[in-house]
Amino acid sequence: MAKITVRTLQKKKARGEKITMVSTYDYLSAKFCEEVGIDSILVGDSLGMVFQGLDSTLPVTLEEMIYHTKAVRRGAPNAFLIVDMPFLSYQVSLEEAIRNCGRIIKETGAQAVKLEGGEDIAELVYRLNSIGIPVVGHIGYTPQSIHRFGGPKVFGKEEEEAEALKRDFKALENAGALMVVLESVHWKVAKEITETSEVITVGIGAGKFCDGQVLVFHDIVGLYEDIKPRFVRRYAEGAKIFKDALRRFKIDVEEGRFPSEEESYGT
Ligand code: KIV
Repeated sequence: MAKITVRTLQKKKARGEKITMVSTYDYLSAKFCEEVGIDSILVGDSLGMVFQGLDSTLPVTLEEMIYHTKAVRRGAPNAFLIVDMPFLSYQVSLEEAIRNCGRIIKETGAQAVKLEGGEDIAELVYRLNSIGIPVVGHIGYTPQSIHRFGGPKVFGKEEEEAEALKRDFKALENAGALMVVLESVHWKVAKEITETSEVITVGIGAGKFCDGQVLVFHDIVGLYEDIKPRFVRRYAEGAKIFKDALRRFKIDVEEGRFPSEEESYGT
């Protein structure tokens, strides 16, 4: 697969071609994504829940994001690689945020950073863009604000909330954001935003009119069984397949059927 750049993605939007994005955290899954031609990989801070087994994304650190992104880049040298900036790595001060985002780009081979927020992060988005770091915004349900929202919810059903979403999107657009992830957003608002802007929209629970769609790898392949939001479509029952293989291995060992002669050295 040819290297995917910002221009590849912008051309796709201009031609009305859908963009595919997968959130994942390791070498092998990234390799699978690249082999089937997924356009973009997000190293999401959802790794806190899906990879580390935490109950939110809040404890994830910058060092952990760097570690996972390096592994993902080794598996997917050509996909457009985006990294989630973890909680408190970009909220304290502009200076600290720029240094942390810069580290991600310098140390991992990623091409863009993702920040949760709209109007509140516009100045930072502008500064990052002006020093050559493409930014992906994230509005609607933003998991780093779980304690403010009290848990996942849908945004944009009420007029006031829809207007707030549009203001946030506009602020990101004016600041030069490359892309905006719309999470748990009413499809009508997502459609309007998408159709009236050149900024690429990527939906997760935001309906089919976005320019692209993102899901977490472990949800797509049915490995993550803890939560299944309405917007997840499982394309395989990975957890069942894996558990079945493990059960068979266990029984074979216990009953002396593994290893066989062919699987042993010296015969
Ligand atoms: O952390 C993540 O994986 C994400 C996507 C699901 C959008 O933010």
